[in-house]
Amino acid sequence: MPTVTMVVNGQPVSQDVEARTLLVDLLRNDLSLTGTHVGCDTSQCGACVVHVNGDAVKACTMFAFEAEGAEVATIEGQAAADGTLSNIQQAFQDHHGLQCGFCTPGMIMSASALLKDNPKPSEDEIRAYLEGNICRCTGYHNIVKAIMAASGQDITAVAAE
Ligand code: FES
Ligand code: FES
Repeated sequence: MPTVTMVVNGQPVSQDVEARTLLVDLLRNDLSLTGTHVGCDTSQCGACVVHVNGDAVKACTMFAFEAEGAEVATIEGQAAADGTLSNIQQAFQDHHGLQCGFCTPGMIMSASALLKDNPKPSEDEIRAYLEGNICRCTGYHNIVKAIMAASGQDITAVAAE
């Protein structure tokens, strides 16, 4: 059984995995990082988005061994150690960017990857970037508002319908 060594949320991790083990299963089952959700297991919903070496990745699309030597970040690493929410998490709370919350970890990890590369995305750019993240509850408008607010932009013009 191969051993995968990586850094997860700043902590070194070394874990024996089967060759078929997916990154999302390593995170959830072996490391108990259950904030990364599994909504479809077929690369469609985006509930499982994490960062691998700074890029947003659907963790159900990647074998764990492929993350050998990588820096992995999950939703558990977003808030500060004292529990203070990240800028994006706080914006989701302030602007009602979630209802049931199932999609939220993936949305926040995707949003933070977007803002790293594009600190002031337009509404259209946000909507296009989130194409791979499905939300069954919110209708997306408040998610878009939250991401625009987190990037310091005016949200009054964000489409309401
Ligand atoms: S569980 Fe990975 S995309 Fe849906
Ligand atoms: S808040 Fe329920 S799926 Fe997005």
